[in-house]
Amino acid sequence: MSRPNTQRWGGVSQTLHWLIALLILTLGIVGLTMGELPKTPKYFWVYTAHKSLGITVLTMVVLRLGWRLYAGAPPAVPGTPTWQERIASVTHALLYVLMFGIPLSGWIYDSASGLRPFRWFGLVDVPKLVAPDPQTVAISHAIHEYGFWLLVAVVAAHAGAALYHHVFQRDATLVRMLPRGWISSPQKD
Ligand code: HEM
Ligand code: HEM
Repeated sequence: MSRPNTQRWGGVSQTLHWLIALLILTLGIVGLTMGELPKTPKYFWVYTAHKSLGITVLTMVVLRLGWRLYAGAPPAVPGTPTWQERIASVTHALLYVLMFGIPLSGWIYDSASGLRPFRWFGLVDVPKLVAPDPQTVAISHAIHEYGFWLLVAVVAAHAGAALYHHVFQRDATLVRMLPRGWISSPQKD
């Protein structure tokens, strides 16, 4: 399995990065719109699908952090100023906190609401993390919702920085997170 090397992110890191980003976007759109659905058994599966996919993303984030700690990361692209490296590290750490915090707060919200256990894609009962409690419901719901909006803002800055590097700095920051040959590198990577 390809690991990050001195120049590029490996296949595992890239796959997890883009798959998780896509699934988080999907979950956010579904999460924000599913409240409008009629509360009938016919539409209840959308909630279960959101929760099931959310737990799946949480598992993928655990795998991703494990892989990141085991396999490491390529060093900063040559020429990147130290202050940019520092901002990138803080941003990436914050993204990890949100990637854990959002699904976990959803799970705690579901648990504290006192609903009957939902089945992960209809297959296995997902255990409750906490006992029913209205205050926990309010706090976890706020973290789930505002955490998502914070993530949107941080990802906008994060993606903006990647595009800035590609278009203006003309370095390999974006290209090395993409499969070889997807877009041509502004310089040799
Ligand atoms: C990365 C994963 C996830 C993302 C990005 C996400 C995102 C969202 C968003 C944006 C909302 C709308 C918030 C609002 O306006 O009220 C929402 C609602 C919700 N989410 Fe998630 N979610 C994730 C995982 C989970 C998980 C794992 C669970 C439970 C096990 C869950 C349970 C819920 C529930 C029950 C609601 C409805 C809240 C309400 O009643 O208003 N979510 N989600
Ligand atoms: C939900 C969306 C996203 C999340 C949570 C996210 C998270 C992260 C994290 C945590 C890293 C650091 C690598 C690691 O340690 O695992 C990273 C790297 C990176 N991300 Fe994202 N990302 C998202 C979306 C995007 C988007 C939309 C773009 C570009 C358009 C992008 C471009 C990059 C690039 C180029 C790197 C490598 C940076 C480097 O080599 O220093 N990401 N991302």
